[in-house]
Amino acid sequence: MLWFYTNHAERSTLLWKPLFMLLAIFATPLTHAANAEAARVLDLSDRFLEVYNQGQWLVMFYAPWCGYCKRTEPIFGQVAQELHGLSIRVGKVDCTRFPHVAREMEVRAYPTIMFIKGSAKYIYKGDRVKEELVDYALRMSGPPVQLVTRAESIDMLKGSHTIFFIFIGQQEGVMWESYYAAAENYQEHGFFYATTPDLATQHFEFEHLPAVVVYKEEQHHLYPFAHVAHEMDVSEINDTIHHWVNVERFVTFPKITRFNMNQLMKTKKYLVVAVVEEDKLNQVATHELEFRDMVEGVIRKHRDRYHDKFQFAWIGDPSIAHSIVLDMPPTPHLFVINSTTQEHYIPDDEPLKMTPQALHVFLESIHNESATPLGGDTLLVRVRRAIFEVRKGLSDMWKGNPVLTTVILGLPCGFLSLILYSAFCGDCFVASDEDDDHEKTE
Ligand SMILES: *[C@@H]1O[C@H](CO)[C@@H](O)[C@H](O)[C@H]1NC(C)=O
Ligand SMILES: *[C@@H]1O[C@H](CO)[C@@H](O)[C@H](O)[C@H]1NC(C)=O
Ligand SMILES: *[C@@H]1O[C@H](CO)[C@@H](O)[C@H](O)[C@H]1NC(C)=O
Repeated sequence: MLWFYTNHAERSTLLWKPLFMLLAIFATPLTHAANAEAARVLDLSDRFLEVYNQGQWLVMFYAPWCGYCKRTEPIFGQVAQELHGLSIRVGKVDCTRFPHVAREMEVRAYPTIMFIKGSAKYIYKGDRVKEELVDYALRMSGPPVQLVTRAESIDMLKGSHTIFFIFIGQQEGVMWESYYAAAENYQEHGFFYATTPDLATQHFEFEHLPAVVVYKEEQHHLYPFAHVAHEMDVSEINDTIHHWVNVERFVTFPKITRFNMNQLMKTKKYLVVAVVEEDKLNQVATHELEFRDMVEGVIRKHRDRYHDKFQFAWIGDPSIAHSIVLDMPPTPHLFVINSTTQEHYIPDDEPLKMTPQALHVFLESIHNESATPLGGDTLLVRVRRAIFEVRKGLSDMWKGNPVLTTVILGLPCGFLSLILYSAFCGDCFVASDEDDDHEKTE
């Protein structure tokens, strides 16, 4: 019956995250045990099916034997702790005990983290880290666009979000509608706000109204077509706003993980990726760090030159790079991938000796299409990639749970060899029978 506990305190969804963070700073007792955090996660049962469409839920569907689930569990506890007191209920379902729930909710993998509001279900596809999960739940729980009505609120947003979008002007007309639609589309991936010109003017520079601004990393950039919007037709405005939101929703130099890779590929840009190797403590060796900093410096200093066509990023786990570029040289290294064709480019230069100037020349040769692409999305490459992924999957599984892996792989292998053995011998007998028959008839 735990899950019937509700907190229907409907608060204004606007800006409660920063408020909450402030509260958290003052209100968090110094010793808050992990147990307390875990206790915030409701243990759900079959009854969940009767109540899931009431209110808002963040639910983890898990199996006790799954290694990834075990790793996510403490994080999920912290998320529950952070969301405590808001109108989002956080729970978990053991799908081995309640397979019926898993079936009804169409759970296809463990763990699946779902945000449920009313009849709408969203599967979380981001990194399973506390901050991202909390941001995700906060984004999903509010309306797609939240209104900002006080100038100080914009300061709070700047303090609490690395990236957010904000619409400035009358909330009507084609630009507003397109912005709203884009916000709905990308609600899982970004924060969207709207405000009035007089509040925004202290914070952002803009000439034309309405304006749309993306704030990121202490700078802001404008949707570039606001001044010609009156000459554009509806679908052009809609498309350019969607496109702009799609490419602007990333920081300048994000870290690529298995989870955000797909989203980055959706930019349809060239991804310029520095590959280094992080150890277990997320430390990178000095010489690799210098290389990564060199690459980052190029985009930070030359945003205007590259931003339209190139999205820079870095990878700390070389196996992610390997799954894209199969013949990846040792780290540190750099590759550029055309996110439309999945063809990639590797510079000839020794990475550690590569200068920003050499990187400019390399990127220019990709841009003017004089560089030779490798790989691409051909069948052969796909097959090799699939083999790589299967091998990687198996080795991860082995690392996570050797006993289970042995059982899972061992049992079918045992059966398979039995079947093959009998099939093979069956064939032998049939074949020799037939041969005999032939001899007889001849
Ligand atoms: C706006 O653009 C998006 C993406 O290009 C598209 O999915 C959507 O249907 C468009 N909406 C309208 C009203 O044209
Ligand atoms: C990727 O490759 C296609 C086909 O060669 C090309 O048209 C496109 O401009 C390239 N670049 C990007 C950023 O997609
Ligand atoms: C493309 O760029 C490279 C590097 O800057 C340059 O050497 C080459 O001449 C350019 N090719 C064309 C066709 O513009």
